[in-house]
Amino acid sequence: MKKNRAGGKSTHHLDHDQILKLFGQHINPSKVRILKSAGLDLVEGKREGPYVWDVSGNRFIDCITGAGSFNVGRRNPEIINALKEALDDYDLGGFLFFSEAKVQLAEKLASISPQGLLKCVTFGCGGGESIDFAIKLSRGSTLRPTVITADRGYHGHTGFALSGIGRDAYRKPFGPLMPEFIRVPYGDLDALKKVINENTACVLLEPIQGEGGIIIPPESYFPGVRKLCDENGALLIVDEIQTGWGRTGKLFCCEHYGIVPDILCVGKSMGGGLYPITAALYKEELQDFIFANPFIHFSTFGGSDLGCKVALATIDYIEKNQLWLNAEKMGMIFQQGFEKLKLQYPQILAEYRRKGLMMGLQYASEHMGPRMSFELAKRGVIAVFSANDPRVMRFMPSLVIQKEDVLFVLDALDKSMGAISKGVSHG
Ligand SMILES: Cc1ncc(COP(=O)(O)O)c(C=O)c1O
Repeated sequence: MKKNRAGGKSTHHLDHDQILKLFGQHINPSKVRILKSAGLDLVEGKREGPYVWDVSGNRFIDCITGAGSFNVGRRNPEIINALKEALDDYDLGGFLFFSEAKVQLAEKLASISPQGLLKCVTFGCGGGESIDFAIKLSRGSTLRPTVITADRGYHGHTGFALSGIGRDAYRKPFGPLMPEFIRVPYGDLDALKKVINENTACVLLEPIQGEGGIIIPPESYFPGVRKLCDENGALLIVDEIQTGWGRTGKLFCCEHYGIVPDILCVGKSMGGGLYPITAALYKEELQDFIFANPFIHFSTFGGSDLGCKVALATIDYIEKNQLWLNAEKMGMIFQQGFEKLKLQYPQILAEYRRKGLMMGLQYASEHMGPRMSFELAKRGVIAVFSANDPRVMRFMPSLVIQKEDVLFVLDALDKSMGAISKGVSHG
């Protein structure tokens, strides 16, 4: 076994160029070309806490984190131990049968759900799958057809979720998609009021749009959406797949708005960055539909026993360390830095948006996003611009990040903006 430059044991036998060449040949050639041109052709080697190393041993602070998949840090030792221990007793488990791991997790989720009101759960493997289930549950429970989503919303690439996505480029080649999906501008209650009615099964929204460019709605938006849903007998699905698990300074982002959705979808960091598991949590009254249709929805690997054990350890870690508090504390240091950068480089940084460690920098032009990714990568920071809006760069570091690394990222931003404003590139 080789040692990598970072000093860890390495199982890598191929170098960076060989891996990219094979990836291009067998998986996705255009992805290789595009990421290379943005300086994001990272071949991940060692990973630890807020860091990732490339296979040559260069360290980066990971500000992408799989769009919020590594809230507990990368390769968190406590979660690794939980997975190892689980392997002593469990395998995936039979999806038809019952197990202690499944009910332990279900009970835990019910107890930590917003206001303890989402007592029931259906597990999945992927986020899109949990959204699909939430939409099925809404249509099945209400016997209504219409699903309202938001422009620029992002809910995954599976069947129902893709139909609800707010970006035409992702949907266009696959039409016709599911009927009766309509989209409204995000954050606009009047627009929702015009379309919601007795045909609406559900309204599906992210509490902060991630892929859409870190769009934080007005404070009054979600209480207003909740009210409109109640008045029209429609269900409210909140997609916390990206915002959940402490990311925004609370365990779940909808707690900032004081509302409880009918269905809450969570995923990504629930698996501690080590084992895929997602969940749709829902109110007890919706269980009537499941009661009448007990075998209406299956997922072979969804809520596997190993996944449940890992999720329990992950939730325990998040609670024990109150990671949401660190998200807000570190987020404030970022904010002070962003404020300075905005004054120093007004021609580059137009605006920033933040809740906890869910952060977005909006650059003055579309060209800045890819250039900033490139400059930051050279300075040890991995960050990516949003597919929906290349002016916006998302910063979602692990929630275990500490001050020293926050200052490192801010320094890299300062130097990168300095290089761009002088028209020089550090290389
Ligand atoms: C808000 C949101 N919903 C749904 C998904 C889809 O999750 P998955 O990629 O696990 O299907 C994502 C993934 O980025 C997301 O950010």
